[in-house]
Amino acid sequence: MKKGILIVNSFLDTPSVRDTYDLLLEGAKHCGIRMDLIGNDRFFVDPGSGLIETDEHKALNDADFILFWNKDLFLGRALERAGHRLFNPADAIEACDNKALTFEKLEGVCRVPKTLKIPMTFNTIGYGDLSFEDHIGNILGYPYIIKECLGSYGGQVYMAEDEKKARSIIKAIEGKDCIAQEYIRSSHGRDIRAYVVGNEVVAAMERYNDTDFRSNIANGGKSRPIAISGEQAGMALAATKKLGMDFAGVDILFGDDDESFLCEVNSNAQFRALYETTGINITHALFEHIISVC
Ligand SMILES: Nc1ncnc2c1ncn2[C@@H]1O[C@H](COP(=O)(O)OP(=O)(O)O)[C@@H](O)[C@H]1O
Ligand SMILES: [Mg+2]
Repeated sequence: MKKGILIVNSFLDTPSVRDTYDLLLEGAKHCGIRMDLIGNDRFFVDPGSGLIETDEHKALNDADFILFWNKDLFLGRALERAGHRLFNPADAIEACDNKALTFEKLEGVCRVPKTLKIPMTFNTIGYGDLSFEDHIGNILGYPYIIKECLGSYGGQVYMAEDEKKARSIIKAIEGKDCIAQEYIRSSHGRDIRAYVVGNEVVAAMERYNDTDFRSNIANGGKSRPIAISGEQAGMALAATKKLGMDFAGVDILFGDDDESFLCEVNSNAQFRALYETTGINITHALFEHIISVC
């Protein structure tokens, strides 16, 4: 029997996150895998010499793989340096987690909305002069979208309707790394969530919200099944492959004339809504993939 460890973030404790862990543990059991859940606060890392031995070492040494449902990158890399195979790899998680880094890596891989990195400042200084915003407005046109690089669930994605609003958003989040992005009007309040495992899109749904431009389920969005096109599936696969992901939830925007745009790639995407919408439990494909790689 294969043994795995599910390493989660000890400080992220909401009903939907716990539900995801329950689905993962059930899925592992279904696939004949013994899996233990351990929080990241049970491990300690010396950034120089790596993982420090703790009580959890026996569990680590017995494990065939680690399902790293987590963004604790220094822990992830220390585990990899100690010889453990992480699903997903730490560098891949980093590339997904940071939206600017994602677009840097995806250059030339698939169609993405025109995106600009907002100039970096220091969080102790902020922006004194916001005149650089003129150039962003000229290049992207209004409205445009502003995103914190490290946001999720739609919570840190904003609509800059005009220059005044853009500047007030940028000022309000100064000190955080951000991008500005072309608004894909034809995708207002709707997108595709495609779930990739290995070399396959195992399930997909359309997400929509009639009252908000952000279609995230956690932000009140709803979902319905969708048959995605070959181009959309190819885009999801190309992006996850380039980023080095074993599995990912890929967001795709609807452009005009059947053109699609890659919106973002999520390393730890929740999948309860996808399960209820499509009847497909992605954990089965996930653990089959992990077993085949191990
Ligand atoms: N450029 C865009 N044009 C139109 N809608 C967008 C754009 N970018 C994001 N959205 C909407 O906002 C939602 C959240 O954006 P996303 O980049 O996926 O951030 P998060 O990590 O918060 O999910 C998307 O699912 C989509 O509905
Ligand atoms: Mg998203």
